[in-house]
Amino acid sequence: MITFSDRLAALPGYPLAELPSIKRRLIGEGVDVIDIGPGDNDAPPPDLVVETMVSAVRTPALSKYGFQQGLPEFRQAAARWVERRFGLRFDPVTETLPLIGSKEGLAHVVFAVANPGDVAIVPEPGYQAYLGGAILAGAEPYIAPLQLEQGFLLELERIPEHVLRRAKIVFVNYPNNPTAAVATPDYLERTVAVCRRHGILLAYDNAYCDLTFDGYRAPSIFEIPGARDVAVEFFSLSKSFSMTGWRLGFAVGGKELIGALTRVKSYVDTGPWLAVQKAGAAALDQAEVLVAPIRAELARRRDAGVVALRGAGFEVDTPEAAMYLWIPLPADVPSGVFARRALEEAGVVVLPGSAFGPAGEGYFRIALTVGAARLTEAVTRLGGLLERLRRGELASTP
Ligand SMILES: Cc1ncc(COP(=O)(O)O)c(C=O)c1O
Repeated sequence: MITFSDRLAALPGYPLAELPSIKRRLIGEGVDVIDIGPGDNDAPPPDLVVETMVSAVRTPALSKYGFQQGLPEFRQAAARWVERRFGLRFDPVTETLPLIGSKEGLAHVVFAVANPGDVAIVPEPGYQAYLGGAILAGAEPYIAPLQLEQGFLLELERIPEHVLRRAKIVFVNYPNNPTAAVATPDYLERTVAVCRRHGILLAYDNAYCDLTFDGYRAPSIFEIPGARDVAVEFFSLSKSFSMTGWRLGFAVGGKELIGALTRVKSYVDTGPWLAVQKAGAAALDQAEVLVAPIRAELARRRDAGVVALRGAGFEVDTPEAAMYLWIPLPADVPSGVFARRALEEAGVVVLPGSAFGPAGEGYFRIALTVGAARLTEAVTRLGGLLERLRRGELASTP
């Protein structure tokens, strides 16, 4: 008999793994299900990207192994975009690295810096790839709860000194999934300072940097002096260009850190498909034009969602970035129960806060992945459920 590893056993089960099968059943029964669970926008990828891909698929050279070097054109486009977007220069050959989606890089980077038993500081609620990567690499996750009172910021200064001494990596993500919080320059400065003091790799996940509203501009970690010695920054084409399934992102950072991640990846993958890199280069070179409509549409959805939620009796802040609304629940309603009932009784898929770790309990997340009218309809249904929950009509907690 095969026995499984302690690391596999340590991976937490995904809460509400049964949601997709309930959704399928309901659709089969003719229910009009509105899915605002996963962060997967309903907008198609831009035409330019699709057309570039179509011709790339017909180019045999782009069907070869890319290896870690990948398509030089993609690295160059990535470096050009970083320079245009943040005014920062990185060498396309030694300081950028194509990723098969940023999730892959985030999960692998911990292998480059942590020995078994070293600490990896992981935000909670947070993107679960950080925790998974840490566990699979044999690191010891230290869960840093993100709390409303601290603006959902992961404050390294609140972590005990003896933990910081053992820490090799911290995952920091602003604009944040799932809370939609953003980071102030002061916060980033103190985070870089602690990482420098303790030799902690700052894995800065900037997947949502271009999904910003009302004039807010999300910074790069490398705008902070001294960050180049300790940080690697991760970017994704998934959300900004509606390319989630294409699997394309990239990392930037100092030569040694990018070299270490490259070395890890050279043993586990052969880089993103070159044709996808070709299309990604076209996207990055036109980013300003292509992202603007996606951002404007998300802002419309955010506004409609916030108005509808408040009207339906929920409390919610208006986020300045990302593509999520993070909404508190009444104290006696577990988020898993709310999400399951939202689907079963209202035909709406939302993610329970507990899907982002136990510290996410007490909230649920809406992704702005459908148009304003559908979103409003979904929220109206959720409001009906909230009302019934408040009246105690749905007391049969499973
Ligand atoms: C915070 C965060 N980081 C990274 C990713 C991964 O994006 P991808 O692997 O598609 O580039 C996601 C996806 O939802 C995310 O929410």
